[in-house]
Amino acid sequence: MFSSDSERKEKIEDRLKETQKVFGYVFDKFTILNIYKLFTDKTLGRFEFPIASGKESLVFAASNDDKFYAVKIYKTVASTFKNIERYAGQRWGIENTRNKRKFIVQWAHREYRNLELASASGVIAPRPIKVIGNVLVMQYVGTKRIPAPLMKDCDITENILTQTLHSIRTLYTKAQLVHGDLSEYNFLVYRKRPYMIDIAQAIQTNDKMALILLRRDIEIMTKFFNKFGYKLLEDKILKYTVGESNVFR
Ligand SMILES: Nc1ncnc2c1ncn2[C@@H]1O[C@H](COP(=O)(O)OP(=O)(O)OP(=O)(O)O)[C@@H](O)[C@H]1O
Ligand SMILES: [Mg+2]
Repeated sequence: MFSSDSERKEKIEDRLKETQKVFGYVFDKFTILNIYKLFTDKTLGRFEFPIASGKESLVFAASNDDKFYAVKIYKTVASTFKNIERYAGQRWGIENTRNKRKFIVQWAHREYRNLELASASGVIAPRPIKVIGNVLVMQYVGTKRIPAPLMKDCDITENILTQTLHSIRTLYTKAQLVHGDLSEYNFLVYRKRPYMIDIAQAIQTNDKMALILLRRDIEIMTKFFNKFGYKLLEDKILKYTVGESNVFR
C-alpha cells in the first residue's frame, strides 16, 4: 500500500486547511466537506468567480474542464433564514426540527428536486447537476465572463414576456408546481430566454396555499411587465396559467 489510512486522512486534512484558507471563515467544516466531495467526485474542477451573496446563500461560478456550473451554497450559519422560517414546519415535507443544518440540507434538496421537475417539464430553468448536503450544483446561466443579468435589469420584449408566461404555465400544468416567490429578481435573461431560478419553496398545485401563492406570483409579474407598456390583465393570465385558456390576452 502506498498510503495508509492515516496518511490519506492527513492529506485530506491538509487540503481542507488549504480550502479553509481560501474561503476564509465564511464556511463551516460541514460546508467545506461537501464542496470537497464535489471536487473529489470530479463534479467540479475549480471555482471561477463569485456571482452573488445573499442572506441565505452564496452562488459561485465553477468549472470542470471547459464546462461552467453554478454552485449555490446554502449558509448553515446565516443569521436569518427569511424564506426558510416562512415555510418552516408547515408543509411541503420539511418537518419541524430543531436542527438547523438538517433543515438547510432539506431545503437544498428541495431546490434540486424542483429544478428537476421544472426542467423535465420543459420550463426554462437551470438543469440541476448534483446536490451534496447544503451545496447544489446546477447549470450555469451566462457567459464565461459574466453571469446572466436578472430580469429586473432587462428590457422586456414581447418574446421574453411570452416565454416567461409560458414557463409559469408549464410549471403549473406539467410540473404541477407553483413557484411561490416569483418576481423580476428570480428570472435570469440569457440569449433571449428567461430562466426561472430560486425555486426551493415551490409548492404542489394541490396544496391549499397554491392558488393564493399563484395569484401573488401573477400579480407581481403582471405589474412588472406592465411597466413596459403592456396592458396585461391578471385574471386572463391566471386562466392561461392554469390551462383554462390558451391565450393570455
Ligand atoms: N444557475 C445560475 N446561473 C447564474 N447565476 C445564478 C444562477 N442561479 C443563481 N444565480 C445568481 O445568484 C443569485 C442568487 O440566487 P438565488 O436567487 O437562487 O438565491 P437566494 O439565496 O434566494 O438569493 P436571494 O435571497 O437574493 O433571492 C441570483 O440572483 C443570480 O444572480
Ligand atoms: Mg432569489
